Amino acid sequence: SITHVILTGGVGSRLWPLSRKSQPKQYLDLFEGKSLFEITVERNRAIADKIMVVGNIDNCHLSRQVMEKSNTPYLDIIESTPRNTAAAIAFAAFASQPDDILIVTPSDHIIDGIEPYEAAIHEAVEKASKGYIVTFGIIPTKPETGYGYIERKDDDVISFREKPNKVTATDFIAKGNFLWNSGMFCFKASVLLEELNKFYPEVYEKSKIAWNATINGHLDLDLSMEIPSISIDYAVMERSKKIKVVSSTFIWSDLGSFESVYDYLISKGHPVDTNGNMVIGTDNYTAFVGLKNTIFVYTDTANLILQKERSQDVKNIYSELERKH
Ligand code: GDD
Ligand code: MG
Repeated sequence: SITHVILTGGVGSRLWPLSRKSQPKQYLDLFEGKSLFEITVERNRAIADKIMVVGNIDNCHLSRQVMEKSNTPYLDIIESTPRNTAAAIAFAAFASQPDDILIVTPSDHIIDGIEPYEAAIHEAVEKASKGYIVTFGIIPTKPETGYGYIERKDDDVISFREKPNKVTATDFIAKGNFLWNSGMFCFKASVLLEELNKFYPEVYEKSKIAWNATINGHLDLDLSMEIPSISIDYAVMERSKKIKVVSSTFIWSDLGSFESVYDYLISKGHPVDTNGNMVIGTDNYTAFVGLKNTIFVYTDTANLILQKERSQDVKNIYSELERKH
């Protein structure tokens, strides 16, 4: 069977203050009253016959509301603390039959073009059933440092490199045979677990111990704290020899940082002044004097003034605030 695994335990810290721990960006009503989470569920409804939601205790009521509204049966996996995507994906794999095909997607991306999306998924499912771990590659448009890069020859993956620095990313783009990793994956549960156990046995073992002690889908806090916090990209994708790539032709944005939100909003006609300054979150007239490429983000309780090129650094503020509170 085919299971859609929705990862929704991240806090979207690079989008602070729009995105908060209590209301991460995937639950904001950004599009005609629908959240990105809800749109993700709808997009994959026809493709999979099971759904698993891997989320966090702090906001699982938000995913539950959506799932109950749409009357979709699903398995709820609730983390008591985020341990990053390697563990989150391992839990979904432990909850599956070894031969089940899992399609893992984030819940906070924008994808336009349902036909090319479904075509890519079908191609991926076929490769996954042959024992490969399939990534979905996006044609890169700039040396973005927040993404993984897939070096490929046709559908073979020569190397995978997570979040390179600017110089390396620029070099990758110049070489021409690199794709961005979209952050979606497709594989057999058993294959992913074997590869995780091979390259990062500590994550495998400790996730397994935590999973086996789960009560009604809730993970124990102390056992979870034992699991090393590492993303699937570093733990498996950079090391495995079983990776394939499906090159995607759908329109994709991860809205991961204010820079990508900025690009997306511009493509939708959102105002930006002649110096590249943009206001998000208020219709108040806002003047920028002597500033270029600045993003002003307004919310009821906190504001952000950001130099666009520093978008990846917003997560540092988030971590600082976390430490203080
Ligand atoms: N359940 C759960 N638990 N979900 C998590 C956790 C966790 O501890 N941490 C992150 N997630 C979810 C996020 O909510 C998001 O939907 C997804 O997993 C990916 O995590 P991000 O933190 O957004 O990863 P990233 O954006 O830095 O990088 C990934 O996505 C890029 C594309 O958007 C990587 O896969 C990159 O290679 C890729 O280019
Ligand atoms: Mg992301």
